[in-house]
Amino acid sequence: MDQKKIGSFIAARRKENGLTQSQLAEKLGITDKAISKWETGKSMPDLSLLCPLCDLLQITLNELLLGEFISDENLKEKSNQVLFEVVTSWLGKDQWKRKTEGHIPAVLKLRHVGKRYENGSTSTVAVHDVSFDIAKGSFVGIMGASGSGKTTLLNMVATIDKATGGQIEIDGQDISELSENDLASFRREHLGFVFQEYNLLDTLTVYENIALALTIKRIPKEHVKRTITDLAEKLNISEILYKFPYEISGGQRQRCACVRAIATNPSLILADEPTGALDSRCAKQLLDTFVMLSQEYGSTVLMVTHDALSASYCDKILFMQDGEIKTSLEREQEGKHEFFTRILDTMAKIAGGVHYVS
Ligand SMILES: Nc1ncnc2c1ncn2[C@@H]1O[C@H](COP(=O)(O)OP(=O)(O)OP(=O)(O)O)[C@@H](O)[C@H]1O
Ligand SMILES: [Mg+2]
Repeated sequence: MDQKKIGSFIAARRKENGLTQSQLAEKLGITDKAISKWETGKSMPDLSLLCPLCDLLQITLNELLLGEFISDENLKEKSNQVLFEVVTSWLGKDQWKRKTEGHIPAVLKLRHVGKRYENGSTSTVAVHDVSFDIAKGSFVGIMGASGSGKTTLLNMVATIDKATGGQIEIDGQDISELSENDLASFRREHLGFVFQEYNLLDTLTVYENIALALTIKRIPKEHVKRTITDLAEKLNISEILYKFPYEISGGQRQRCACVRAIATNPSLILADEPTGALDSRCAKQLLDTFVMLSQEYGSTVLMVTHDALSASYCDKILFMQDGEIKTSLEREQEGKHEFFTRILDTMAKIAGGVHYVS
Protein backbone atom coordinates (compact mmCIF):
# COMPACT_ATOMS: atom_id res chain seq x y z
CA MET A 1 0.00 0.00 0.00
CA ASP A 2 1.28 3.44 -0.92
CA GLN A 3 0.67 5.46 2.26
CA LYS A 4 1.80 8.74 0.69
CA LYS A 5 -0.61 8.32 -2.20
CA ILE A 6 -3.43 7.42 0.17
CA GLY A 7 -2.58 10.49 2.29
CA SER A 8 -2.72 12.87 -0.68
CA PHE A 9 -5.99 11.33 -1.76
CA ILE A 10 -7.49 11.80 1.71
CA ALA A 11 -6.36 15.46 1.72
CA ALA A 12 -7.78 16.10 -1.76
CA ARG A 13 -11.13 14.46 -0.98
CA ARG A 14 -11.37 16.31 2.36
CA LYS A 15 -10.93 19.65 0.59
CA GLU A 16 -13.39 18.72 -2.16
CA ASN A 17 -15.94 17.96 0.53
CA GLY A 18 -15.33 21.41 2.05
CA LEU A 19 -13.81 20.12 5.29
CA THR A 20 -10.84 21.47 7.24
CA GLN A 21 -8.55 19.05 9.07
CA SER A 22 -10.15 20.10 12.37
CA GLN A 23 -13.67 19.55 11.08
CA LEU A 24 -12.82 16.07 9.80
CA ALA A 25 -11.05 15.27 13.08
CA GLU A 26 -14.05 16.39 15.06
CA LYS A 27 -16.46 14.28 13.03
CA LEU A 28 -14.27 11.21 13.57
CA GLY A 29 -13.62 11.99 17.22
CA ILE A 30 -9.84 12.14 16.84
CA THR A 31 -7.11 14.83 16.96
CA ASP A 32 -6.13 17.19 14.11
CA LYS A 33 -2.63 15.79 14.39
CA ALA A 34 -3.82 12.31 13.43
CA ILE A 35 -5.38 13.69 10.24
CA SER A 36 -2.22 15.55 9.40
CA LYS A 37 -0.19 12.35 9.90
CA TRP A 38 -2.46 10.43 7.50
CA GLU A 39 -2.30 13.18 4.91
CA THR A 40 1.49 13.29 4.91
CA GLY A 41 1.64 9.49 4.63
CA LYS A 42 3.22 9.06 8.06
CA SER A 43 0.45 6.79 9.36
CA MET A 44 -2.70 5.01 8.25
CA PRO A 45 -6.18 5.45 9.73
CA ASP A 46 -7.08 2.94 12.40
CA LEU A 47 -9.13 0.02 11.05
CA SER A 48 -12.25 1.14 12.98
CA LEU A 49 -12.11 4.55 11.25
CA LEU A 50 -11.83 3.32 7.66
CA CYS A 51 -15.58 3.02 7.02
CA PRO A 52 -16.68 6.31 8.65
CA LEU A 53 -13.82 8.08 6.86
CA CYS A 54 -14.96 6.68 3.50
CA ASP A 55 -18.51 7.91 4.20
CA LEU A 56 -17.30 11.40 5.03
CA LEU A 57 -15.03 11.59 1.99
CA GLN A 58 -17.66 9.93 -0.25
CA ILE A 59 -15.40 7.24 -1.55
CA THR A 60 -15.35 3.43 -1.38
CA LEU A 61 -12.98 1.43 0.80
CA ASN A 62 -11.20 0.15 -2.32
CA GLU A 63 -10.66 3.71 -3.48
CA LEU A 64 -9.30 4.75 -0.10
CA LEU A 65 -6.84 1.85 0.04
CA LEU A 66 -5.73 2.45 -3.53
CA GLY A 67 -5.51 6.22 -3.08
CA GLU A 68 -7.46 7.05 -6.27
CA PHE A 69 -10.90 6.91 -7.84
CA ILE A 70 -11.91 3.64 -9.47
CA SER A 71 -14.09 3.93 -12.55
CA ASP A 72 -16.59 1.17 -13.27
CA GLU A 73 -14.73 -0.34 -16.20
CA ASN A 74 -11.60 -1.11 -14.20
CA LEU A 75 -13.35 -1.84 -10.92
CA LYS A 76 -12.45 -5.52 -10.90
CA GLU A 77 -8.80 -5.11 -11.73
CA LYS A 78 -8.28 -2.27 -9.25
CA SER A 79 -10.20 -4.05 -6.50
CA ASN A 80 -8.01 -7.08 -6.97
CA GLN A 81 -4.96 -4.86 -6.75
CA VAL A 82 -6.20 -3.46 -3.45
CA LEU A 83 -6.96 -6.91 -2.12
CA PHE A 84 -3.51 -8.09 -3.20
CA GLU A 85 -1.85 -5.20 -1.36
CA VAL A 86 -3.84 -5.77 1.78
CA VAL A 87 -3.23 -9.50 1.88
CA THR A 88 0.46 -9.22 1.09
CA SER A 89 1.01 -6.75 3.89
CA TRP A 90 -0.89 -9.08 6.16
CA LEU A 91 0.72 -12.39 5.11
CA GLY A 92 4.13 -11.14 4.05
CA LYS A 93 4.96 -10.82 0.38
CA ASP A 94 7.00 -14.00 0.12
CA GLN A 95 4.19 -16.21 1.30
CA TRP A 96 1.68 -14.62 -1.01
CA LYS A 97 3.98 -14.94 -3.99
CA ARG A 98 4.73 -18.58 -3.36
CA LYS A 99 1.09 -19.48 -3.02
CA THR A 100 -0.29 -17.50 -5.93
CA GLU A 101 2.28 -17.04 -8.65
CA GLY A 102 2.75 -19.66 -11.33
CA HIS A 103 6.37 -18.76 -11.80
CA ILE A 104 8.63 -19.05 -8.78
CA PRO A 105 12.27 -18.10 -9.34
CA ALA A 106 14.76 -20.98 -9.31
CA VAL A 107 17.42 -20.65 -6.63
CA LEU A 108 19.38 -23.53 -8.05
CA LYS A 109 19.74 -24.60 -11.69
CA LEU A 110 21.77 -27.56 -12.87
CA ARG A 111 22.34 -28.22 -16.57
CA HIS A 112 24.02 -31.43 -17.74
CA VAL A 113 26.24 -31.52 -14.69
CA GLY A 114 28.83 -34.27 -14.55
CA LYS A 115 31.76 -35.34 -12.42
CA ARG A 116 34.50 -37.73 -13.43
CA TYR A 117 37.24 -38.67 -10.98
CA GLU A 118 40.57 -39.56 -12.56
CA ASN A 119 42.90 -41.55 -10.31
CA GLY A 120 45.92 -42.68 -12.24
CA SER A 121 44.68 -45.15 -14.81
CA THR A 122 41.16 -45.49 -13.37
CA SER A 123 38.39 -43.09 -14.03
CA THR A 124 35.05 -43.05 -12.19
CA VAL A 125 31.96 -41.28 -13.41
CA ALA A 126 30.37 -40.26 -10.10
CA VAL A 127 27.70 -37.96 -11.58
CA HIS A 128 26.44 -38.05 -15.15
CA ASP A 129 24.33 -35.51 -17.04
CA VAL A 130 22.22 -34.21 -14.15
CA SER A 131 19.78 -31.36 -14.86
CA PHE A 132 17.13 -29.92 -12.57
CA ASP A 133 15.81 -26.66 -11.13
CA ILE A 134 14.95 -26.01 -7.51
CA ALA A 135 12.44 -23.26 -6.85
CA LYS A 136 12.76 -20.76 -4.02
CA GLY A 137 11.13 -21.97 -0.85
CA SER A 138 11.20 -25.68 -1.64
CA PHE A 139 12.57 -28.51 0.44
CA VAL A 140 14.08 -31.11 -1.86
CA GLY A 141 15.52 -34.49 -0.92
CA ILE A 142 18.11 -36.54 -2.80
CA MET A 143 17.95 -40.29 -2.23
CA GLY A 144 19.84 -43.21 -3.70
CA ALA A 145 21.96 -46.19 -2.80
CA SER A 146 25.46 -45.83 -1.35
CA GLY A 147 27.86 -44.77 -4.10
CA SER A 148 25.12 -43.41 -6.36
CA GLY A 149 26.69 -39.92 -6.39
CA LYS A 150 24.61 -37.98 -3.85
CA THR A 151 27.48 -36.45 -1.89
CA THR A 152 29.44 -35.72 -5.05
CA LEU A 153 26.44 -33.85 -6.44
CA LEU A 154 25.86 -31.93 -3.22
CA ASN A 155 29.55 -31.02 -2.92
CA MET A 156 29.51 -29.54 -6.41
CA VAL A 157 26.48 -27.41 -5.54
CA ALA A 158 28.24 -26.48 -2.30
CA THR A 159 31.16 -25.19 -4.44
CA ILE A 160 33.49 -27.52 -2.51
CA ASP A 161 34.06 -29.73 -5.54
CA LYS A 162 34.24 -28.66 -9.20
CA ALA A 163 32.03 -30.20 -11.86
CA THR A 164 33.86 -31.66 -14.84
CA GLY A 165 30.94 -30.87 -17.11
CA GLY A 166 27.78 -28.79 -17.30
CA GLN A 167 26.66 -25.71 -15.47
CA ILE A 168 25.50 -24.89 -11.94
CA GLU A 169 23.73 -21.63 -11.21
CA ILE A 170 22.89 -20.43 -7.68
CA ASP A 171 20.82 -17.27 -7.22
CA GLY A 172 21.44 -16.50 -10.90
CA GLN A 173 25.23 -16.83 -10.60
CA ASP A 174 27.12 -19.43 -12.65
CA ILE A 175 29.47 -20.69 -9.94
CA SER A 176 32.14 -21.85 -12.41
CA GLU A 177 32.79 -18.18 -13.22
CA LEU A 178 33.80 -17.33 -9.64
CA SER A 179 37.43 -17.15 -8.48
CA GLU A 180 38.49 -18.97 -5.28
CA ASN A 181 38.26 -15.69 -3.37
CA ASP A 182 34.83 -14.85 -4.71
CA LEU A 183 33.69 -18.38 -3.96
CA ALA A 184 34.52 -17.99 -0.28
CA SER A 185 32.37 -14.89 0.08
CA PHE A 186 29.67 -16.38 -2.17
CA ARG A 187 29.45 -19.40 0.13
CA ARG A 188 29.18 -17.13 3.17
CA GLU A 189 26.48 -14.99 1.62
CA HIS A 190 24.31 -17.58 -0.08
CA LEU A 191 24.88 -21.02 1.40
CA GLY A 192 24.38 -22.79 4.70
CA PHE A 193 25.96 -26.18 5.29
CA VAL A 194 24.73 -28.94 7.52
CA PHE A 195 27.57 -31.35 6.77
CA GLN A 196 29.25 -33.64 9.22
CA GLU A 197 32.68 -32.54 7.99
CA TYR A 198 31.88 -28.91 8.65
CA ASN A 199 33.26 -28.90 12.12
CA LEU A 200 32.94 -26.35 14.83
CA LEU A 201 35.99 -24.38 15.89
CA ASP A 202 37.41 -26.02 19.00
CA THR A 203 38.71 -22.84 20.61
CA LEU A 204 35.27 -21.22 20.68
CA THR A 205 32.22 -22.20 22.68
CA VAL A 206 29.13 -23.42 20.86
CA TYR A 207 27.52 -20.01 21.31
CA GLU A 208 30.59 -18.23 19.92
CA ASN A 209 30.75 -20.62 16.96
CA ILE A 210 27.18 -19.74 16.00
CA ALA A 211 27.58 -16.04 16.78
CA LEU A 212 30.66 -15.91 14.56
CA ALA A 213 28.67 -17.07 11.55
CA LEU A 214 26.09 -14.36 12.24
CA THR A 215 28.70 -11.65 12.79
CA ILE A 216 30.39 -12.45 9.49
CA LYS A 217 27.03 -11.78 7.86
CA ARG A 218 26.82 -8.46 9.72
CA ILE A 219 23.65 -9.38 11.61
CA PRO A 220 22.96 -6.72 14.28
CA LYS A 221 24.11 -7.75 17.74
CA GLU A 222 20.68 -7.59 19.35
CA HIS A 223 19.34 -10.14 16.84
CA VAL A 224 22.25 -12.50 17.37
CA LYS A 225 21.38 -13.48 20.91
CA ARG A 226 17.67 -13.89 20.22
CA THR A 227 18.22 -15.95 17.07
CA ILE A 228 20.68 -18.26 18.82
CA THR A 229 18.51 -18.73 21.89
CA ASP A 230 15.40 -19.49 19.82
CA LEU A 231 17.08 -21.98 17.51
CA ALA A 232 19.05 -23.58 20.34
CA GLU A 233 15.80 -24.30 22.11
CA LYS A 234 14.27 -25.82 18.97
CA LEU A 235 17.23 -28.14 18.43
CA ASN A 236 17.70 -28.88 22.09
CA ILE A 237 21.18 -27.44 22.63
CA SER A 238 20.31 -24.64 25.09
CA GLU A 239 22.09 -26.49 27.90
CA ILE A 240 25.38 -26.78 26.05
CA LEU A 241 25.62 -23.34 24.43
CA TYR A 242 28.52 -22.32 26.68
CA LYS A 243 30.49 -25.55 26.36
CA PHE A 244 33.38 -26.16 23.98
CA PRO A 245 32.87 -28.58 21.06
CA TYR A 246 35.24 -31.20 22.62
CA GLU A 247 33.04 -31.27 25.73
CA ILE A 248 29.90 -32.42 23.89
CA SER A 249 28.77 -35.53 22.01
CA GLY A 250 28.86 -36.09 18.24
CA GLY A 251 25.09 -35.72 17.95
CA GLN A 252 25.16 -32.50 19.95
CA ARG A 253 27.97 -31.17 17.75
CA GLN A 254 25.91 -31.92 14.70
CA ARG A 255 22.91 -30.07 16.10
CA CYS A 256 25.15 -27.09 16.87
CA ALA A 257 26.44 -27.12 13.31
CA CYS A 258 22.80 -27.14 12.14
CA VAL A 259 21.95 -24.12 14.24
CA ARG A 260 25.05 -22.36 12.91
CA ALA A 261 24.05 -23.15 9.32
CA ILE A 262 20.44 -22.06 9.54
CA ALA A 263 20.89 -19.08 11.88
CA THR A 264 22.20 -16.91 9.06
CA ASN A 265 19.08 -17.62 7.00
CA PRO A 266 20.98 -18.47 3.79
CA SER A 267 19.06 -18.67 0.52
CA LEU A 268 20.19 -22.26 -0.03
CA ILE A 269 20.73 -24.74 2.80
CA LEU A 270 22.66 -27.88 1.88
CA ALA A 271 22.46 -30.86 4.17
CA ASP A 272 24.18 -34.24 3.81
CA GLU A 273 22.52 -36.86 6.01
CA PRO A 274 21.73 -34.20 8.64
CA THR A 275 19.72 -36.57 10.79
CA GLY A 276 22.28 -39.40 10.67
CA ALA A 277 23.59 -38.88 14.19
CA LEU A 278 20.39 -37.61 15.79
CA ASP A 279 17.86 -39.42 17.95
CA SER A 280 14.34 -39.47 16.55
CA ARG A 281 13.11 -36.49 18.58
CA CYS A 282 15.97 -34.21 17.51
CA ALA A 283 15.74 -35.48 13.94
CA LYS A 284 12.07 -34.49 13.91
CA GLN A 285 12.90 -31.06 15.33
CA LEU A 286 15.55 -30.47 12.68
CA LEU A 287 13.26 -31.60 9.86
CA ASP A 288 10.42 -29.46 11.20
CA THR A 289 12.86 -26.54 11.27
CA PHE A 290 13.71 -27.12 7.60
CA VAL A 291 10.00 -27.23 6.74
CA MET A 292 9.40 -24.01 8.70
CA LEU A 293 12.37 -22.26 7.08
CA SER A 294 11.21 -23.22 3.60
CA GLN A 295 7.52 -22.46 4.11
CA GLU A 296 7.70 -19.34 6.22
CA TYR A 297 11.02 -17.79 5.33
CA GLY A 298 11.33 -18.84 1.69
CA SER A 299 14.65 -20.64 2.37
CA THR A 300 15.48 -23.45 -0.02
CA VAL A 301 16.74 -26.73 1.37
CA LEU A 302 18.53 -29.50 -0.50
CA MET A 303 19.03 -32.55 1.68
CA VAL A 304 20.71 -35.89 1.01
CA THR A 305 19.18 -38.72 2.99
CA HIS A 306 19.00 -42.51 3.09
CA ASP A 307 16.00 -42.38 5.29
CA ALA A 308 12.48 -42.46 3.81
CA LEU A 309 10.99 -40.99 6.98
CA SER A 310 13.25 -37.91 6.79
CA ALA A 311 12.53 -37.67 3.07
CA SER A 312 8.78 -37.61 3.75
CA TYR A 313 9.18 -34.06 5.13
CA CYS A 314 10.34 -32.85 1.69
CA ASP A 315 8.22 -31.38 -1.11
CA LYS A 316 10.10 -33.31 -3.76
CA ILE A 317 12.56 -36.19 -3.92
CA LEU A 318 15.17 -36.83 -6.60
CA PHE A 319 16.27 -40.46 -6.82
CA MET A 320 19.84 -41.11 -7.94
CA GLN A 321 21.24 -44.29 -9.36
CA ASP A 322 24.70 -44.76 -10.87
CA GLY A 323 25.33 -41.03 -10.94
CA GLU A 324 22.08 -40.13 -12.68
CA ILE A 325 18.69 -38.87 -11.56
CA LYS A 326 16.46 -41.83 -12.37
CA THR A 327 13.15 -40.44 -11.26
CA SER A 328 11.57 -37.82 -9.05
CA LEU A 329 8.59 -37.74 -6.76
CA GLU A 330 6.58 -34.70 -5.85
CA ARG A 331 4.44 -34.34 -2.76
CA GLU A 332 0.83 -33.84 -3.71
CA GLN A 333 -2.07 -32.87 -1.48
CA GLU A 334 -1.15 -35.65 0.89
CA GLY A 335 0.11 -36.13 4.40
CA LYS A 336 3.59 -37.20 5.43
CA HIS A 337 2.42 -40.76 5.87
CA GLU A 338 1.05 -41.14 2.33
CA PHE A 339 4.15 -39.51 0.88
CA PHE A 340 6.33 -41.83 2.98
CA THR A 341 4.55 -44.87 1.49
CA ARG A 342 5.08 -43.58 -2.04
CA ILE A 343 8.77 -42.96 -1.31
CA LEU A 344 9.15 -46.54 -0.06
CA ASP A 345 7.41 -47.84 -3.20
CA THR A 346 9.71 -45.86 -5.46
CA MET A 347 12.79 -47.01 -3.53
CA ALA A 348 11.66 -50.61 -3.87
CA LYS A 349 11.08 -50.25 -7.61
CA ILE A 350 14.49 -48.67 -8.17
CA ALA A 351 16.21 -51.32 -6.05
CA GLY A 352 14.32 -53.95 -8.04
CA GLY A 353 15.92 -52.72 -11.22
CA VAL A 354 12.91 -50.97 -12.75
CA HIS A 355 14.21 -47.68 -14.16
CA TYR A 356 11.92 -44.69 -14.35
CA VAL A 357 12.55 -41.58 -16.32
CA SER A 358 11.20 -38.41 -14.73
N1 LIG B 1 37.54 -38.47 -4.41
C1 LIG B 1 37.10 -39.50 -5.12
N2 LIG B 1 37.90 -40.15 -5.98
C2 LIG B 1 37.44 -41.17 -6.72
N3 LIG B 1 36.19 -41.64 -6.67
C3 LIG B 1 35.34 -41.03 -5.83
C4 LIG B 1 35.73 -39.95 -5.00
N4 LIG B 1 34.67 -39.55 -4.26
C5 LIG B 1 33.68 -40.37 -4.61
N5 LIG B 1 34.06 -41.26 -5.54
C6 LIG B 1 33.23 -42.29 -6.18
O1 LIG B 1 32.11 -41.66 -6.76
C7 LIG B 1 30.93 -42.42 -6.59
C8 LIG B 1 29.88 -41.59 -5.86
O2 LIG B 1 30.30 -41.33 -4.54
P1 LIG B 1 29.43 -40.45 -3.50
O3 LIG B 1 30.27 -40.22 -2.31
O4 LIG B 1 28.95 -39.28 -4.22
O5 LIG B 1 28.24 -41.45 -3.18
P2 LIG B 1 27.00 -41.27 -2.17
O6 LIG B 1 25.78 -41.49 -2.98
O7 LIG B 1 27.14 -40.04 -1.41
O8 LIG B 1 27.21 -42.54 -1.23
P3 LIG B 1 26.89 -42.69 0.36
O9 LIG B 1 25.42 -42.89 0.45
O10 LIG B 1 27.63 -43.95 0.71
O11 LIG B 1 27.39 -41.49 1.09
C9 LIG B 1 31.37 -43.68 -5.83
O12 LIG B 1 31.59 -44.70 -6.77
C10 LIG B 1 32.65 -43.26 -5.17
O13 LIG B 1 33.49 -44.36 -4.97
MG1 LIG C 1 27.43 -39.59 0.71
